[in-house]
Amino acid sequence: MKNIYVGVNDKSIDLFEGMYRVPNGMSYNSYIIRDEKSAVFDTVDEKFGGEWLDNVSAALDGRNPDYLIILHMEPDHSANIFRFMEKYPDTCIVGNSKTFVLIKEFFGDFAFNRLEVKDGDTLSLGSRSLTFVFAPMVHWPEVMTVYDGADKALYSADAFGKFGSLDTEEEWEEQARRYYYGIVGKFGNAVQGLFKKLSAYDIQKIYPLHGPALTENVGYYMNKYDLWSRYAFESDGVFIAYNSVYGHTRKAVELLAKLLEENGTEVIARDLARDDWAQCVADAFKFRNTVIAATTYNGDVFPAVREFIDRLKERNFRNRRVGIIENGGWAPFAAKAIQKRLEDCKDIEYCPTQVTLHAALDGQSSSALKALADELKG
Ligand code: FEO
Repeated sequence: MKNIYVGVNDKSIDLFEGMYRVPNGMSYNSYIIRDEKSAVFDTVDEKFGGEWLDNVSAALDGRNPDYLIILHMEPDHSANIFRFMEKYPDTCIVGNSKTFVLIKEFFGDFAFNRLEVKDGDTLSLGSRSLTFVFAPMVHWPEVMTVYDGADKALYSADAFGKFGSLDTEEEWEEQARRYYYGIVGKFGNAVQGLFKKLSAYDIQKIYPLHGPALTENVGYYMNKYDLWSRYAFESDGVFIAYNSVYGHTRKAVELLAKLLEENGTEVIARDLARDDWAQCVADAFKFRNTVIAATTYNGDVFPAVREFIDRLKERNFRNRRVGIIENGGWAPFAAKAIQKRLEDCKDIEYCPTQVTLHAALDGQSSSALKALADELKG
């Protein structure tokens, strides 16, 4: 039989991981495979321990679980390990050496049965065998995935997850991209390492720890993850990330957006002081071109812009073309500050035209915007 879903939806959460806005909530996924032996994959966030244990009990239908497989120790998945073990003390906890270090760090010493697996090990449940494929730093160092050959299914831990609870009607891609670049984006090389190992397996279904099970057209999701983890862009268009204190920089952004649209270029503009920062980060990675339009502030660039660039940098922003619009009445300094902050990013190409506004748009800056729009075309 295929797996049974026993996860939960969190509709009350405001900030996932204390920093990501999730207006449509989150799901914490958990699965049970019932074979001759039964295995539970991961627990859920602490708040939902009771609901999850009820789901587990219903799915087990009177049986006792043989294994609790821990793919990831972050507390949104691991918080209920001991609560589960108190209810089912004969279960064997399955993890790797790093998993057990983290269990001890989070929960203290424990005397429950354990099975420590190595990369590539298999575990038979009877008619099917599970293969452990380690995925270190596909978010945390202990992360592992499991391939179930009988179902051609990958239990992928955080990989392929998305924001949003399972009872939310929304496309996978936007919230999966926002989740990926927010949470896993720094670890592109680790994702590529996992992909190399997974190329040996025929994967037709993916069961992530957040978001829906991906049971059709798996190539589409794999292709997205491959692009994202290689820091490749998905659109030739332009993302304009801006701040505007009194509206003058915004007017320049609006003019640039109009010129780009007239050129047939896809464009999206977001206000860094007001719009969701994780969406801004995801858009910067989605597009080939990012234009940063910013005001000078205290001899530096506006704080929200500083923060935006820092967030890009810590996620290995690279391989992109960047345009700059700066605004400064008597001492424009934003462009220099932006370039200084981006100097550690690899393979950044700057548009030749850098636009400077002295307080407000004038003929000269409008002409410069036209030149910048032409450089960003296609
Ligand atoms: Fe969903 Fe890295 O935890």
